[in-house]
Amino acid sequence: MIDVSLLLWSFEMPVLTLARLQRITPQQLRAFEATARLGSVTQAAQSLYVSQPTVSVQLKELSQSVGENLFESTGRHIRLTQAGEELYQTVRELASCWQRFESRIAQINGLISGRLRLAAVTTAEYFVPDLLGAFAQAHQGVEIELTIENRDRIVQRLVQGLDDLAVMMMPPHELKLERVVFQVNPLVIIATAQHAKRDQPIQLADLSSERWLMRESGSGTRMAAEQHFAAQGFYPNIAMNLGSNEAIKHAVAAGLGVAVLSELAVHPPLWSKNATQSSDVPLTILQVEGFPIMRHWSVVWRKDKPLSVAARYFLKYLDIEIE
Ligand code: PGA
Repeated sequence: MIDVSLLLWSFEMPVLTLARLQRITPQQLRAFEATARLGSVTQAAQSLYVSQPTVSVQLKELSQSVGENLFESTGRHIRLTQAGEELYQTVRELASCWQRFESRIAQINGLISGRLRLAAVTTAEYFVPDLLGAFAQAHQGVEIELTIENRDRIVQRLVQGLDDLAVMMMPPHELKLERVVFQVNPLVIIATAQHAKRDQPIQLADLSSERWLMRESGSGTRMAAEQHFAAQGFYPNIAMNLGSNEAIKHAVAAGLGVAVLSELAVHPPLWSKNATQSSDVPLTILQVEGFPIMRHWSVVWRKDKPLSVAARYFLKYLDIEIE
């Protein structure tokens, strides 16, 4: 979070307000913002790399300076009081103001620096680092943090506001997000290369006696496959759940079953150029009626969170227009 306290101190204010504000430190505001956002002192302490008692003391001092309780506890959880809500809103507005200012300065100078926090779902690991390569070269002042997790965890990160942007196939509907689709993501059925070859596409029902290998629950690939199966009235015989695309590919190649995967995971762009163990995996894509399932990659960000300068530049680099 941006240190907004410097901004606060420079305003002309009534003496009493100023005296109260001068006791507030950037550390206290950071501890408050993280606790309010994460709903937990422990998690706030972890995210700020400080101890839990440090955060508790900062919150107590902040509350004394403000002259109001900022949090109340509800059983094992804490939530913002009305005064806390107001302060949270104020801190966020100040942070947005400051980001707008930074962005204008960066535009004036034609330079960008700062941090780009990007999150991507597991399957996007086959192309997102590639995208970042050229961007990082062109903007060496930008520090890039890339987090790769499955869909459920990326959704949690969006809820917590941990990243500037996220790349995913199935953005959640329950969050207010800006969403820009930028690439297709066909999902295919893979089998061992020895799987019976037919000239005509087969029906999904023809695969009902197969053992199906699925990504773990929480994976977007699994969710998309399940939605498609349900729409077709197909009930796969699920033999195994595996936590990564690579594990699925190897299990399929070992003859353990068939699976739905992103075509990108089957033919990763880089690996087809430089032969590696993964491109040697003996797999085949089955021609099945209704497949590939045509999904898309989107880049998403929270509507209520101002975009950082680096994030704006990254979107521009992806040819995504924002106002
Ligand atoms: P997954 O997610 O890589 O976790 O399967 C894909 C997605 O949700 O886009």
